[in-house]
Amino acid sequence: MTGISKRAGELLEAEMLDEYLIEQQTRRHDAYHPSDNPDGYISLCVAENKLVWDLLEDKLASSRDIDHHVIGYDEMFGSSRFRQRVARFLSRTFIGHAVDPDHLVMAAGAGTILETVFYAIADAGEGVLVPTPSYAGFWLDLEARDGLNIVPMHTESSAGFELTTGHLDTALEGADRPIRALLFTTPNNPLGTVYSADEVRLVLDWCEANQIHAVIDEIYALSVFGDRDFVSASTFPMGDFVHIVWAFSKDFAVSGLRCGVLYTQNEQIRAFAQTVAYWQAVSGDTQHVLGELIADTAWVDGFIAENQRRLGAAYHATTEALDEIEVAYIPSSAGFFLVADFRTFLEEPTWEAESHLWRRFLEEANVNLTPGSSLRCGEPGFFRICFASQPSPVAIEGIKRVGALLG
Ligand SMILES: Cc1ncc(COP(=O)(O)O)c(C=O)c1O
Repeated sequence: MTGISKRAGELLEAEMLDEYLIEQQTRRHDAYHPSDNPDGYISLCVAENKLVWDLLEDKLASSRDIDHHVIGYDEMFGSSRFRQRVARFLSRTFIGHAVDPDHLVMAAGAGTILETVFYAIADAGEGVLVPTPSYAGFWLDLEARDGLNIVPMHTESSAGFELTTGHLDTALEGADRPIRALLFTTPNNPLGTVYSADEVRLVLDWCEANQIHAVIDEIYALSVFGDRDFVSASTFPMGDFVHIVWAFSKDFAVSGLRCGVLYTQNEQIRAFAQTVAYWQAVSGDTQHVLGELIADTAWVDGFIAENQRRLGAAYHATTEALDEIEVAYIPSSAGFFLVADFRTFLEEPTWEAESHLWRRFLEEANVNLTPGSSLRCGEPGFFRICFASQPSPVAIEGIKRVGALLG
């Protein structure tokens, strides 16, 4: 590596993207089309919602009538007008109380917010507990630039991947470095689990008892389609050690618009996030569009309800297709995905066999699923299927191809 700093070189050399994402980037240009490209690539590995563009298209277009104040400098962590609108939206939808706009910091996506919060919470080399299976991007957000070490807590399939205080205690006691925080995701990616009030409380109480931060990723809060209502960690007293992360990316299906939100009552963490927002601000234009979107409360309520209905329908179509090919799955009730159990199709219960099966799905069926190794699953053989990342007929075609391959 010539002409660049040691730290930039180290970052470039780290394997930032998992293999499934590298394949996604090259193959997505050859996407499946029923008549034009029937053997084309079917991506079921990225957590995006492609089911609601028709609901968004006109609304986004009509929100683009920008005023001149939008194109000048403003508060880099979110203009006060935008923060007021987001505060009202959050308290009206899934946060359990009135939100002070001054307790919000915006930046370019939830990943950016996570990187920022963890930079403020812990020093390089310190540890963060993350239950697994998990969203793969956390490793990038916490380890790549912040230099933290994630201490994974593998939950077991035999117990429905349930997280217990036993997992938390064992991980904390066994850690070879100071643990500064727990990163907990509800609704869970990849499991689609919506945690109950008791489960959320248990996590918060445990963090409080052990004096570590609780960073709660609630990015799928409004993408719930099962019977259980979402309960935000903000329903409980937050104090200085509970921080909530959300973004427009998932619940509004606009992952490319890059707007993440940090909600924390910790003044110092907020001050830090406000300061570094200068390097990672959400553009004035995007703030304007999203602000207009959420100010129309009738539209928001209709959108959320219809989105949830469509997610539920896509989930049921997917599980029916999995039943057809006799592949088991963990029931999901939120998000854009479920975890399917391919253990019986592995040649042997090893990571090599899982990788081999994933490669076969890709090479022989031209279907990309997220392998359990990328989800840091504790046992080989589980794959995430992102059923909302394609219209349902395409997702079903992908599952049929997988079924044909498995015989
Ligand atoms: C649980 C979770 N957190 C954070 C992110 C990152 O979101 P963003 O695109 O807003 O950075 C994702 C994206 O898949 C996610 O699933």
